[in-house]
Amino acid sequence: MLLQSGVDPVHSRKILVTGGAGYIGSHTVRLLLKQGHDVVVVDNLSKGYRHNVPEGRLRELDLTDTAALASLMGEHGTEAVIHFAAFIAVGESMREPERYFANNVSGSLSLLTAMLQAGVKHIVFSSTAAVYGNPASSPIAETFPIQPVNPYGESKVMVETMLRWFDQIHGVTSVCLRYFNASGADPDGGLGEEHEPETHLIPLLLRAVMTGKPVTVFGADYDTPDGTCIRDYIHVNDLAQAHILAVEHLSGGGASDQFNVGTGTGHTVMEMIHAVETVTGKKVPYTVGPRREGDPPGLVAASDKLRSRLGWSPEFADLRTIVQHAWNFAIARKA
Ligand code: UFG
Repeated sequence: MLLQSGVDPVHSRKILVTGGAGYIGSHTVRLLLKQGHDVVVVDNLSKGYRHNVPEGRLRELDLTDTAALASLMGEHGTEAVIHFAAFIAVGESMREPERYFANNVSGSLSLLTAMLQAGVKHIVFSSTAAVYGNPASSPIAETFPIQPVNPYGESKVMVETMLRWFDQIHGVTSVCLRYFNASGADPDGGLGEEHEPETHLIPLLLRAVMTGKPVTVFGADYDTPDGTCIRDYIHVNDLAQAHILAVEHLSGGGASDQFNVGTGTGHTVMEMIHAVETVTGKKVPYTVGPRREGDPPGLVAASDKLRSRLGWSPEFADLRTIVQHAWNFAIARKA
């Protein structure tokens, strides 16, 4: 039997999403609902926005409240957790590591403890390419050495480590998704990137176009074709889809694993500027400044593991589509 949405009810799952009011979380929640899943969102709204979560889905809770999380999982009948809630600013983590270890590591431990209490056996975890630090070569495979160079990346490594032990000892299976540069916005509109303060390249380039105030290119003297850093920009909806495939993998009895989530293609900062100029039809005002501390010259994912094991393939790999969706959101937000 198929539901009206075309979703087979046998495969409709009860999924608890932490950080579902944030950028990647909210896109994943929308996709999960579209695909017929029963979603409850946990978010303390310290970074996320109420307006990102559909009516009736949000529980305003802090991850440290283990008892409340466990009872929510019990009431909801949660089958799997997707865990986004975390601080994400690399620079801030270099100034206030204690906040990163408290929020990202202790918060995750509390969540895992709640899962044990409620008998929830599967979790998909938001990890990051920052676990690889400054890799010796590119593209980066999952087997590369784990050597984070900032407390943000380290906090994610610590959670990956906890997850390994929770599998071995408690039989909780997990997929760690190591994101490259999440970007773009839902083509259907209404959702997009709204960090405060904004530090990410694409929204800053779009803001520069809108305000006329120049953006700073952090270094043009790298050993890359045009001297600027190379990153692997992955559309947020393709990232969201990787989470859903990971839930299916675990729910079907699949083993714990780690996957890069990137397209496998890198673009320099200058290429991004040109893409923004093509999409908006306007010049991007910019100046070239010094390198930003901690920026690796190139970060590009080897994405074949995700493709071959989970059957993932990006729907929006074209850079101009990514920028177009981000631009649509920026215009709508301003209106
Ligand atoms: N950049 C500029 N000017 C700016 C902002 C960024 O030139 O004003 C450059 C950066 O130097 C970098 C590229 O644009 O080369 C992308 O920078 P972002 O800040 O958008 O993203 P990062 O690659 O620094 O960080 C992203 C995630 C992190 C994650 C990291 C993993 O945002 O959470 O990838 O490598 F840790």
